[in-house]
Amino acid sequence: MIGERPLWDFPDGTLAGREVSAYLVSDALGWDIVPPTVLRDGPFGSGMVQLWVDGDPGVDLTRLVRADLPELRRMAVFDAVVNNADRKGGHLIPMPDGRVYGVDHGVCFATEDKLRTVLWRWAGDQLTEAAVDKLRALSGDLDGPLGERLGEHLTRREVRRVRLRVDRLIRLGRHPEPSGEWPAIPWPPF
Ligand SMILES: Nc1ncnc2c1ncn2[C@@H]1O[C@H](COP(=O)(O)OP(=O)(O)O)[C@@H](O)[C@H]1O
Ligand SMILES: [Mg+2]
Repeated sequence: MIGERPLWDFPDGTLAGREVSAYLVSDALGWDIVPPTVLRDGPFGSGMVQLWVDGDPGVDLTRLVRADLPELRRMAVFDAVVNNADRKGGHLIPMPDGRVYGVDHGVCFATEDKLRTVLWRWAGDQLTEAAVDKLRALSGDLDGPLGERLGEHLTRREVRRVRLRVDRLIRLGRHPEPSGEWPAIPWPPF
């Protein structure tokens, strides 16, 4: 996509596909984390179009990222699945009704573990039963149509790694913890 800046640690030209893939995973989980996102052909080539959501500008993001909210806890699980390398405060969109959307998923789905997030509050905690149920269903979906659709935007290896991360989360039954090998928090964090 012409409007993309190259990133040193991700393959070129795939940011839009990663954004769409993040939406597909969010949609499959049924947690409504990523606003609807599609690939479109436009005057400057193929690109990503995402539904604009009108967040509540009055919410203090520095407080929000520390809040013990089920929405954020689900997002932490989602980020572990998609291997989000950039979940900063500014990528949260709190809605007037209390829901929280996540945006900017251009640096997800690396094959190596790169989880970088401000949502570490639940690190090491047991996953909720609801989350484990969702992950089990997702694991099945990845063997079917979801896996195929992700394959349109990601490499086969990247799709395989999604499945492996999901299965690892189910097996360990816990929220991931910072690895120590990679900065755990995005810079800048907001
Ligand atoms: N779908 C959306 N709805 C509403 N606001 C959005 C949406 N996507 C992005 N934004 C706002 O625009 C900002 C920049 O978008 P982002 O995707 O992070 O772009 P960049 O690639 O420039 O970092 C976000 O931090 C957010 O505040
Ligand atoms: Mg951004």
